[in-house]
Amino acid sequence: MELLKKRILEEGVVISDQVLKLDGLLNHQVDPELTMEMGREFARLFADQGVTRVVTVESSGIAVAFATAYELKVPLVFARRKKTLLADPDALCERVPSFTKGIVTDIMISRQYISPDDKILFIDDIIANGDAARGLIKIINRSGAELVGLGVVVEKCFEAGARTIREQGVRLESLAKIKSLADGRIEFEE
Ligand code: G4P
Ligand code: NA
Ligand code: NA
Repeated sequence: MELLKKRILEEGVVISDQVLKLDGLLNHQVDPELTMEMGREFARLFADQGVTRVVTVESSGIAVAFATAYELKVPLVFARRKKTLLADPDALCERVPSFTKGIVTDIMISRQYISPDDKILFIDDIIANGDAARGLIKIINRSGAELVGLGVVVEKCFEAGARTIREQGVRLESLAKIKSLADGRIEFEE
């Protein structure tokens, strides 16, 4: 998505060879017009798949997942992150490590909001190692719902997440693929 790449070049801050700060458009501030445009693109990519729910993980994925769900005219469900899990018999939970944050979190979706009849489109902001994404995919699989695909705004091609998820047979579409952040430069794939 050319508009998104332009905005990443204008507003992204290369912190290191591994980390690109995107607070101006994804992780702190949200541009509604750009976000709705991204939602339209995901809706176009996954049209005709019979999606019944969009899911994401709180918090940075919510805006673009909302935009996608709005376009597809289906509900958005965001997995909650809980520091301590209260016993909820209706919840599907997974423990996910975050290498960048150095912590472990539990993510959960209540069975009330995901059912075996669902066709799920999973939307997320950034895929790096993919731990959170693999955790949410496990929850979707355990629910009995069908995962039609995963749409991510930014794919860091030099980290293993996207590749390992595609190797599981999941269709993964990204709007911007970052090949390298070496020498303080943002280099896109293709
Ligand atoms: P994962 O999201 O692929 O599982 O990877 P990882 O554990 O490495 O990432 C932890 C968090 O850091 C994730 O946000 C992820 O989106 C974010 N992240 C990883 N690399 C980058 C990067 O280069 N730039 C930015 N801006 N973020 C990055 P999260 O914990 O899911 O949280 P939140 O953003 O929803 O609060
Ligand atoms: Na994030
Ligand atoms: Na996220």
